Amino acid sequence: MAIELAPITLPETADASKFKQFGREVKGVNPASLTPEEFEEIRKALYTHDALLFRNVNLTPEEQYALTKAFDPESENYGHGNNRTEADKKSILHPDLKTIPRVPQVQLIGNGIVYDHEGLAEAKLKHPSHKTFHKTVVSPEDEAKGITRFYRWHIDAALYNLSPPRVTTLYALNVPQGPKQICRYDDGDDELPVPLGTTAFVSGKTMFNILPKELKSLAVRSKVKYAPHPYVWMSPAKAKSTGLGIESEGLEMSFDELPPWEESRRKLYPVLWKNPVTSELSFQVHPCGVAELIVDPLPKEASREGALYPDGAHLTDLKEVRDLLYKMQRPAISPELVYPHDWHEKDLVLFHNRGILHSVVGAFKEDQVRAFHQCNLAASDDPVGPSNDDVLQWA
Ligand SMILES: [Fe+2]
Repeated sequence: MAIELAPITLPETADASKFKQFGREVKGVNPASLTPEEFEEIRKALYTHDALLFRNVNLTPEEQYALTKAFDPESENYGHGNNRTEADKKSILHPDLKTIPRVPQVQLIGNGIVYDHEGLAEAKLKHPSHKTFHKTVVSPEDEAKGITRFYRWHIDAALYNLSPPRVTTLYALNVPQGPKQICRYDDGDDELPVPLGTTAFVSGKTMFNILPKELKSLAVRSKVKYAPHPYVWMSPAKAKSTGLGIESEGLEMSFDELPPWEESRRKLYPVLWKNPVTSELSFQVHPCGVAELIVDPLPKEASREGALYPDGAHLTDLKEVRDLLYKMQRPAISPELVYPHDWHEKDLVLFHNRGILHSVVGAFKEDQVRAFHQCNLAASDDPVGPSNDDVLQWA
C-alpha cells in the first residue's frame, strides 16, 4: 500500500493560504515498523511539511526512540542531555520531565498522577502553566471561564553544549476531554480558541516570509548568541504574556552565578536555518535564551536604503536584542498563523524541530490525567544558515 499524505484539518481561525505546505496526515503505513524505503519517504515528507500526524498508532518507547533516531542515526542522547548534572537540576525544564527507565531518551510528560507506567511505579506530572512563568497572569475569574495563554514558544533544544534535535516525536496516550479554552495574547486584543491542552505550532518559514524587506535583510545577516545554561540563566526571569520571550527587568542570573560553563560550549546560531530538503529558510530563534545579536554588514552589492544596521552590529543590550526579535517573531504567532493540534489518544506527531516553533497551551485540573511520550535527540550536527546566495537575495 502506498503512503498517502493527506492535508491536516485546519481550525476555522487559520489562514489556509499560509498553510498550503504545512502539516500532513500520513496514512497507509505503520510508523513503528517502516522499511528503509518508507522511512526515506517519511523523512522527505517531514522536512517538506514540517509536521506529520499519524492516527491510531501503537508505539512502544523503544519503537519511538528508533523512529526518532532514524532521522539522525549518529545521535544518541536526549535533546537536553542526561538530566543529572547540576545545571540540569537547576533548569526550569527539570520538573516537566520524567524519564522512561528502559529508554531514557523518551520522556513521560503530561498532567496528574500516572501509576505503573513503563517501569515507573508512580509519576506526578504537571502540565506547565503560564502562571509560574509569565510576568502577568490570567485572573482566577477569567481562568474559571476557560481563558488561558501560550506557555512558552520554543525550539526543543539545550542551546548550550548540545545541538538542536532535528525532529521531535510526540505520542499521545491519555488525552483528557474538556471544553475549548480561549488563548489570550494580552499584548493587544488577539485571542485564539484552542482545544484543551493543545500543542500550538507556527512555521518558521512563514515567520521569515511575512517580514517586510528591511527585517528580512536583518534576519538573513544575523546570528544569535545564547546564554550559557540558558534555562538556568533565565530561571528567575519572567516571560511576556504571549510566551514569546522574556520581559527585560534585569532578573536573569549573572553569568558568574551559573553552574560551571565554558565559552566554547555556548551556541552561536544563524537566525535563519536552511531546510535540508527544500533549501527554504526558517526563522529559528528560541527568544527566551538569547543573550546577544550579531549582525553582519550589508554585502557591497545591496542597497543601503532603509537598511537596518547597514555596517553590522554586535548588540548586547538585552532589551534591545529582545525588542528586535519580538518585532520579527510576533507577527508569525498571530491567531491566523497558529496550528493548534487537537489531540486524540494514539496520535503520533512528528515535527521538524528546525523548521517550526511550538508551545504548550492551556491548563488542566489536578485530576485530569494527561500522558504523552516525547522523544528528541541532541543532533550530530548544527543547523546550517543562509548561503552566500541567500544573503545576496535577501540582504
Ligand atoms: Fe517542546
